[in-house]
Amino acid sequence: MASFTLALLSAALLLCSAAQAQLSSSSFYSRTCPSLPNIVRSTMAQAVNKEPRMAASILRLFFHDCFVNGCDASILLDDTATFTGEKNAFPNINSARGYEVLDAIKSNVEAACPQTVSCADILALAARDGVSLVNSLNIELNPGAKELTWIEMQVGGPNWKVSLGRRDATTASQSDANSNLPGPSSSLSQLVASFAAKGLSAHDMTALSGAHTIGRAQCANFRSHIYDDADIDPSFAAACRRECPSAGGDGNLAPFDLRTPDRFDNSYYQNLVAKRGLLHSDQELFNNGTQDKLVRRYSVNGKAFAKDFAAAMMRMGAISPLTGASGEIRLNCRVVNK
Ligand code: HEM
Repeated sequence: MASFTLALLSAALLLCSAAQAQLSSSSFYSRTCPSLPNIVRSTMAQAVNKEPRMAASILRLFFHDCFVNGCDASILLDDTATFTGEKNAFPNINSARGYEVLDAIKSNVEAACPQTVSCADILALAARDGVSLVNSLNIELNPGAKELTWIEMQVGGPNWKVSLGRRDATTASQSDANSNLPGPSSSLSQLVASFAAKGLSAHDMTALSGAHTIGRAQCANFRSHIYDDADIDPSFAAACRRECPSAGGDGNLAPFDLRTPDRFDNSYYQNLVAKRGLLHSDQELFNNGTQDKLVRRYSVNGKAFAKDFAAAMMRMGAISPLTGASGEIRLNCRVVNK
């Protein structure tokens, strides 16, 4: 019996280490494409400078990619007459955005290092760069100058090393995108379960949800929370209702964080403690449940949040990658190679 248990244990350990060993280090392209980090960062800097929300949109694309059969850029594939991808799945349609920014990065990368870098790795790097750039780029129009001047005013958002070596999927699954991504009306137990299904803990889930410190949501996704839920600050609900009528205006946007909408900080958790979560699923993290304690901790300790967010992003970025000879290096992120 003891030897059977031991055998099971070592098999489990082997499986774990095989799963963890799949990605390579952040220097994976250092010889084949040394300019990669600069190309991604400068193209992201331009995009975030033009529209700070783009940091949020790219971060969300990465989440929606990784949660659907791994971080394999399947979300970037366009639908065609003969191919159904993930872009039109319910959580993505009329909502996921930023595809043009990835096209721009990919074409800059292809010009420097043809057929070398996967779209999946580009997305992983772009998501990290958006987060680290969004706080440090402050835009000031210099009167008389045609160019925007960027002024480094504040420290950047959380930062982390991106492991690389992902390859691109040749398939996508609209039905998995519909079933694997949590929705705005999810309960705490549903949220925990959907992250557990991807090998992520409830702690990771609560840290990763702090991504909702930046970006915007559409009225249709928070209407029932601001009209029907009891666990909401009345003045916050009233402010949201002015932007989101009880009928119509489905696409009206509200920032997740009213106070610092484009700053990557811990105010998401301060909002939750004040019952000012925008989505029902957000407020579920602070509603007399298992995550209350962690939410309180992050609300008073921005450093703890930044550290846990970075670690959880690395784990999310390692979900079921295609490596080695699996998949391909797509030439255009929107289509599978011929
Ligand atoms: C915990 C479960 C989650 C749920 C239920 C959820 C749901 C949503 C919904 C409904 C929106 C608004 C979409 C729209 O109205 O167009 C949104 C936006 C966003 N989500 Fe999540 N999300 C979750 C977790 C995450 C995670 C783990 C990340 C990243 C690590 C993330 C990043 C974002 C960002 C940055 C936005 C704003 C996007 C933009 O402004 O374009 N979310 N999310």
